[in-house]
Amino acid sequence: MSEIAPLQWTGKDLRILDQTKLPQEELVVTADTYADVINAIKTMQVRGAPALGVAGAYAMVLACRSLDTSNINEIQARLQQVGEYVANARPTAVNLAWSVQRMMKVVLSTRTDVELGQRLEAEANKLYDEDVAANRRIGLLGSDLIPEKATVLTHCNTGALATAGYGTALGVIRAAWESGRQLNVIATETRPFLQGARLTAWELVQLGIPTDLIVDSAVGSVISRGQVNCVVVGADRIAANGDTANKIGTYNIAVIAHENGVPFYVAAPTSTLDLTLPSGSDIPIEERDGSEIVNWGDTRVAAEGIGVQNPAFDVTPARYI
Ligand code: MRU
Repeated sequence: MSEIAPLQWTGKDLRILDQTKLPQEELVVTADTYADVINAIKTMQVRGAPALGVAGAYAMVLACRSLDTSNINEIQARLQQVGEYVANARPTAVNLAWSVQRMMKVVLSTRTDVELGQRLEAEANKLYDEDVAANRRIGLLGSDLIPEKATVLTHCNTGALATAGYGTALGVIRAAWESGRQLNVIATETRPFLQGARLTAWELVQLGIPTDLIVDSAVGSVISRGQVNCVVVGADRIAANGDTANKIGTYNIAVIAHENGVPFYVAAPTSTLDLTLPSGSDIPIEERDGSEIVNWGDTRVAAEGIGVQNPAFDVTPARYI
């Protein structure tokens, strides 16, 4: 199997594997402006905390190239503004703001426009490589926690698609599988955007790891019947006390795992830590459009006039992790 590459920098533009089209179609879209990247982030053509961070870094490279001035002070001021748009494209995953901050350090410490273009591209490439390396390391360390013969439950998509490559929680599962563990995976479909049914299932089938897909509301049933040895999920932001924001439904799974004495692990790189926030109650939670809930594909399923709440993430208290 060839490695799944959700993001590819060509040196000129950013190629994005459009995750809204998977698994039916493997469509690669080209982002050649920072606004294209922001649009891809908002529409979730690219998603998953680490992948958002890497995409954000290339948005800054593209923004720098588009400027029509060589005055470094003006460049710095304009990139500061672009950085704010990029960092706020999705609010919960801290990796986005973290990568913009890293890119802004380069912006503010460079004295000429020519040098800045080169340094920003090098920094974005470095960020990409570091993410793949971190994921492989997370996989290696995390796989030690997986029993020789185990059924592992996971939520959302935390695989290669959600990162620069390899994956975080799915990287742990993958590394355990590659090291010879006898594994079964239970993947939740992950309402309403179906990252589990559309993306995790697609990745696990390609990896050849035996997997059953369940509806989110079957988690209590499978865990309480003793079918799950451990849960491994990813994270979008981890506060200083260990409280963890992740895809909506993660908290439910953690409580059910705790109630049934099943270990619940979070696999994430250090770019997902936000030590400026004392606890999870300070984490901003993205509210997405209600159309994701009232429609099934192109068909309206809920009554016209109904109110909708669509928080995209929840916070799992550290005591369950
Ligand atoms: O809304 P998404 O699909 O971007 O949410 C993704 C998740 O919640 C993942 O679990 C998290 O970003 C970790 S990805 C390695």
